[in-house]
Amino acid sequence: LRSDRDHTATHLEEVIVMSVYKLDHEFPVASSTAKSHTLPSRLYCDPSVFAYEQRQLFGASWQYVGHVSEIKLPGDYFTTEVAGESLLVVRQQDGDIRSFYNVCQHRASRIESGRGHKKVFTCPYHAWTYNLDGRLHRAPNFVGVEDFDAANCSLSQVKTEVHNGLIFVNLDPQAQPLLSVFGEMFEKMEAFDIGSLVVARSVENVVACNWKVVIDNFLECDHCPIVHPGFTSTLDLDNYEITTFSNYSYQGVPLRNAAGELDFSGNGARYYYMFPSTWFSMNPGPLNLSVNRTIPIDEHTTKLIYTTLLLTEEVDEEQKKLLAFIDQVREEDFVVCENVQKGISSRGYSQGRFSLTEKCVHHFHLLMQEALSGVL
Ligand code: FES
Ligand SMILES: [Fe+2]
Repeated sequence: LRSDRDHTATHLEEVIVMSVYKLDHEFPVASSTAKSHTLPSRLYCDPSVFAYEQRQLFGASWQYVGHVSEIKLPGDYFTTEVAGESLLVVRQQDGDIRSFYNVCQHRASRIESGRGHKKVFTCPYHAWTYNLDGRLHRAPNFVGVEDFDAANCSLSQVKTEVHNGLIFVNLDPQAQPLLSVFGEMFEKMEAFDIGSLVVARSVENVVACNWKVVIDNFLECDHCPIVHPGFTSTLDLDNYEITTFSNYSYQGVPLRNAAGELDFSGNGARYYYMFPSTWFSMNPGPLNLSVNRTIPIDEHTTKLIYTTLLLTEEVDEEQKKLLAFIDQVREEDFVVCENVQKGISSRGYSQGRFSLTEKCVHHFHLLMQEALSGVL
C-alpha cells in the first residue's frame, strides 16, 4: 500500500490504520467507576452488534409490554414489539393474560395490528381463525388435506408474567421466572401501592440514536442542571441517591418545598432501572408510576413508549401540569441523545470516562460488556 500512491490505496491505508488504532486502544470496562472507560463507541453504531443484541439480549430478557388495565375484558388485546417480533397480548376467558407471536400458522401473514376487542382472531390473508387461547378455530378450504391436525397449528405462545398489574414477556422459552430475576427490585417498589394504578396516558417517540444512548442518559443526572434547568429548581440534586444492584439500579432525589427547602416527608422522585431496557419513574405528587420502554429499531433509531399510571384514568389539572413538565424534560433529553449519536459514530471518538456520579451508567456498561462478550 505504501508504494502505491493512488487515491484508493491512500484511503484504504487510512481505514486500516484507524481500525488498528481502535483495536490497540480499546479498554475493557473496569470494575471500578473511578478507573473505568466507557463501552467502545463502535458498539453504538455497528449493525452486527445491534443484531446480536436483538437476538441475545432483547430476545432473552424480561420486557415490559403493557398494563392489565389496557386489556380489562376477555377478548381485549394489543399488539406490541419485542426484539423485532410482533406479539399479540390477549386477555383470556378465564381472566389470564397470554401472549403469542402475531404470525399465522398457515403461510405466515401477520394477523392483528393496533389494539381492540375480538371473539376470535381472523387472519387477513386466507381467513384462518384462532381462539383467544391461540388454538386454531377454523381453516377454510382445508378439506382433503392429508395429515392436517388443527391441534398442531396453534399460535406460538410467548412466556408471559404479570406482576402488580405490569405485563412482562420473555421470548426465551427457558427463561427464569420474572420474580427470580427481578424479585428484589419489585419488593422495593412495593413500598408504593402500584397495584392499584391504571394507565392514564401513553406517548410514543422515535429518537435518532442507539438505544444504549437513551439508557446512558437516563442513568445519570450530572446533565440535569445543564439540560433540565426546570427540573433542577424543583428537586434537590445535592442529595441525589444512586445505588446499583445485580441487574437493576436506583436513583432517588428529594423534593424542595415551596420555600426551596428540603422536603423530608419522603416525597420526591424515585427511579428504578431494570436491565436492559425498562425503567420506572415515580414522580412527586399523588401516587403515580411511569414506565419507560426502550425499543431498538435499528442501530441508530430507538422507539420510546412512556406510559403513565395514575389512581384513575382521568388526569386532573395538577397531573396535567406534571405530565407537561415531564414531556419537556423528555424532549430536552431527546435533543442531547441525538447529539451524542452524531458524535459516537465519529472517528474522532472511541471511548470516554465516568464521573463518580455516573455510577449507574458504569453499572449498565459492565452489564452490557458481559452481555456482549460474544462480540467483544
Ligand atoms: S396466511 Fe393466514 S390464513 Fe393464510
Ligand atoms: Fe435528562
